[in-house]
Amino acid sequence: MLRGIGGFLPPTTVTNDDLSRGLDTSDEWIRTRTGIRERRVVSRDLSTGTLAVEAGARALRSAGITGADAVIVATTSPERLCPAVAPEVATRLGLGTVAAFDLTSACSGFLYGLATAEGLIATGTADTVLFIGSEAFTTLVNPRDRATAPIFGDGAGAVVLRRGAPDEPGALGPFDLGSDGALADLLAVPAGGSRQRAADGGLGHATVPADDWYLRMAGRPLYTQAVDRMSQSARSALKKADWAVADVDWFAGHQANLRIVRAVAEELEVPGERVAVNIDRVGNTLAASVPLLLNDLAARGDLRAGQRVLLSAFGAGLSWGSATLVWPGLRAEPVD
Ligand code: COA
Repeated sequence: MLRGIGGFLPPTTVTNDDLSRGLDTSDEWIRTRTGIRERRVVSRDLSTGTLAVEAGARALRSAGITGADAVIVATTSPERLCPAVAPEVATRLGLGTVAAFDLTSACSGFLYGLATAEGLIATGTADTVLFIGSEAFTTLVNPRDRATAPIFGDGAGAVVLRRGAPDEPGALGPFDLGSDGALADLLAVPAGGSRQRAADGGLGHATVPADDWYLRMAGRPLYTQAVDRMSQSARSALKKADWAVADVDWFAGHQANLRIVRAVAEELEVPGERVAVNIDRVGNTLAASVPLLLNDLAARGDLRAGQRVLLSAFGAGLSWGSATLVWPGLRAEPVD
């Protein structure tokens, strides 16, 4: 049951024109191929944890509470390889020694995290979960690669989930989740983990080519996969919830690319005016994308109590997920 929402964007804006000064690209190319006009990026003093704390504090404020008994952070741009950032976020928010862990599922992290949080509540492990999608993913993107540098942005979005009845506003419907590891290489950062190691047995030999620290992306096949998987998954979530497409007031899809969002909406036959969009201002913020989108809609008064929302996301893994949500009517603050 959704009870609070918050979002935070780092203050530094990078426009398409800014990018075009250092890369062989243009505002026109980026806008027409992706729908992105600008994105926010972390400065040296900000990272996944600091963004998460800001967004988490706002979500708690929106819920009108100061405590939670579990914290989950979905991120694919971890603060450090070890440990998880969620315990530190919980401490910095004054939540004490609660259950806290990170979850990695790239751009579908918000849907996987919602399902996990609902599971903690359903099993009685927690009554109130603070769940934050937080990303400083631009730190993993090669600034010299014009195929990936324009696409991603940094930010954090958070929600508070509490126990409640399935017919109350705030209720999440059954989830549809899926993955295809055979296509893992379509979007990957090769180095830094146990497969391609930073250090070789402590001998200090440099084993990793510099570019392997950065994201590699096969844009074309990902595009097709994103449209197919999100459409199928969204349809499946609608079916499980027994909703017709006509019941959907808002389609809140992962903001990977404006063309992808529109193609999925077309597949589903959701009319254009019900398709939520904020990619023009934030780019692809991975696990933060859907909560930032919901926060934007709610903060500008476009998302009202009782409205029916279809959530769907797709990303590296490959992985995807969808769910239905009846909006509870929350106080939401603009991200800035
Ligand atoms: N500026 C100018 N030209 C660029 C460019 C840029 N930033 N990036 C690529 N190009 C060029 C390519 O080199 C290519 O040139 P060529 O035809 O001379 O070889 C041309 O533009 C077309 O490239 P292509 O990659 O086929 O473009 P596209 O229409 O598929 O759009 C993406 C590229 C990345 C925007 C698109 O494939 C996409 O959005 N894919 C999904 C990515 C995604 O969502 N990833 C996250 C998953 S959650």
